[in-house]
Amino acid sequence: MCGIFAYLNYNVTRDRRFILEILFNGLRRLEYRGYDSAGISIDSSSPSFPSADPNGQFSDSAPPPLVFRQEGNIESLVKSVYKDVASTELNLEEPFSVHAGLAHTRWATHGEPSPTNSHPQTSGAGNEFLVVHNGIITNYEVLKETLIRHGFNFESDTDTEVIPKLAKYVFDKANEEGDQTVTFSQVVLEVMRHLEGAYALIFKSRHYPNELIACKRGSPLLLGVKELSEDTSSGASFLDLKFISENGRPKELFLSSDASAVVEHTKKVLMIEDGEVVHLKDGGVSILKFENDKGKHGSALSRPPSVQRALSFLEMEVEQINKGKYEHYMQKEIHEQPESLRTTMRGRLIRGGSCKAKTVLLGGLKDHIKTIRRSRRIVFIGCGTSYNAALAARPIIEELSGVPVTMEIASDLVDRQGPIYREDTAVFVSQSGETADTLLALEYALENGALCVGITNTVGSAIARNTHCGIHINAGCEIGVASTKAYTSQIVVMAMLALAIGDDAISSQARREAIIDCLFDLPNKVREVLKLDQEMKDLAKLLIAEQSLLVFGRGYNFATALEGALKVKEVSLMHSEGILAGEMKHGPLALVDENLPIIVIATHDACFSKQQSVIQQLHARKGRLIVMCSKGDAASVCPGESCRVIEVPQVEDCLQPVVNIIPLQLLAYHLTVQRGHNVDQPRNLAKSVTTQ
Ligand code: F6R
Repeated sequence: MCGIFAYLNYNVTRDRRFILEILFNGLRRLEYRGYDSAGISIDSSSPSFPSADPNGQFSDSAPPPLVFRQEGNIESLVKSVYKDVASTELNLEEPFSVHAGLAHTRWATHGEPSPTNSHPQTSGAGNEFLVVHNGIITNYEVLKETLIRHGFNFESDTDTEVIPKLAKYVFDKANEEGDQTVTFSQVVLEVMRHLEGAYALIFKSRHYPNELIACKRGSPLLLGVKELSEDTSSGASFLDLKFISENGRPKELFLSSDASAVVEHTKKVLMIEDGEVVHLKDGGVSILKFENDKGKHGSALSRPPSVQRALSFLEMEVEQINKGKYEHYMQKEIHEQPESLRTTMRGRLIRGGSCKAKTVLLGGLKDHIKTIRRSRRIVFIGCGTSYNAALAARPIIEELSGVPVTMEIASDLVDRQGPIYREDTAVFVSQSGETADTLLALEYALENGALCVGITNTVGSAIARNTHCGIHINAGCEIGVASTKAYTSQIVVMAMLALAIGDDAISSQARREAIIDCLFDLPNKVREVLKLDQEMKDLAKLLIAEQSLLVFGRGYNFATALEGALKVKEVSLMHSEGILAGEMKHGPLALVDENLPIIVIATHDACFSKQQSVIQQLHARKGRLIVMCSKGDAASVCPGESCRVIEVPQVEDCLQPVVNIIPLQLLAYHLTVQRGHNVDQPRNLAKSVTTQ
């Protein structure tokens, strides 16, 4: 739920202002992950260079690192840091030839937003150990009690505070026992042995100046490497992490919860894996593998074997993470959809030559498609918008595959321990690929022996790594907390999945080809529907003061009703509910009067006549109607002059949800701006929900 970031410059002089700005910019990029408080740590003066003691011994001379923490968003932190710096002796121009800085942006889980509950969390006076954390430590209460018994005083309500205190306990104990050479990574490995839950952590310590340690279990973390003078003479590959570790050239190293905070500095990254401990020291990077098996490595403070890893290249462009000409990320991402859909489909749709049928190619599934076809059941599992996308795709998967499809909200599946069998294909849909509930459901499905397929927008994410096979959405980085372009790309990916599963059925070939033709043209239709922007802005003006909004849909567009309502409620903070139109008479009709605005989705498909009847019934009860219909249908769907119409281009029924959601995304966006709320950072929400 939080964003963590660190910056280490080695053998290159950076002044304090530069270091602060790098840390602040890192946080600005990660702010979407949490924005109720933030903090950083920098050095008060230049510690000796390189490390204070090559043996890793405690250097009494190292001054305590400074910690700044502030409630509110990143800009509040920036202001307060510069204010504090101005009121002290700190010189913004002071140079550091090596420096390790830490930063954190928080979305509170344990303890309300406040400076004390913000990170970095500390081991106590003197800031001997500092930690930034994304995740949840589930056994923190037991650890806290133990540490209190050992004389530690706690100041925050966070679960995180036990980590730096535990590090201090481990360090002090090793020193008391005469082990003056205990290294930073040994301390962290010992700390990890006691932690339960999910975490990505970065440690900084007064005892190990100019060093950082990162480790993770469950939550995402990556390392970015920027070499400031690349040696081309040796012929060594600069993607070889070992080579980078061994050279003494100037460099900048970045640790971050995700790539968006790193891509403007470097594209050379290492996706840190669960259980890895990454130690940045003296310009080198060493990786140790944590194994929670004390017996295997003798004493807990002995050193496990190091791991060799190669760096990879990020396929992300800096423009993707800037707002460009738009005022908000959500607005940009809504308008990007023609392009994001094109990228999602690129290389996957085959038009066929003279004798070859049109088809789809999903490389990530090629060895598993037959198993999916033969499964007893396909179970879609996700949360929020990702669940809605799967719901939109369910009918076409059932139609083309003939395999029964069931839907599971990830948390509910885990709560119920619902049945999942070896013969099932479990499809995990997640934009971030890191949602804790979905990950737990994945763990559960793996234990039960199902074939697990991942559909995610984040290459290298936990869901992408831990499923047997999968499809990347390739919608590009989505920063607005409300998911928009990932949703439409998810539907398209799942429509392609339906085409791939049904590819062997001659009886549905014409239907499949019609869908493929429609997919080719879909970006144009989306471009067309985006022209409704002004109309949706006007509609938002009309609805600005409403308390509530209902959205009725059915068939392919039940998901559109749920997703449209979710968009409106999460960003504009107006109560909104998506309703299955077939259920109208079984309760919701009681709400209908001349005041409550109701959007009815009635585009042309097999349910059209039923939706016409719903509109008539709502009209008969003086319902305040806004009808979404296919172009040219306005006269036949509108029961009277008071009814407002949103006309959208018609496409194949199974792809209509991609077109239909866009006016509702625009409506949610404009309602939010007009109601004066924060579009990209809705109240109490975070983009990546990495805690249960
Ligand atoms: C709403 C939204 C959320 C997410 C949900 C799952 O706009 O974005 O409902 O869809 O938190 O997240 P992912 O898709 O990352 O698993």
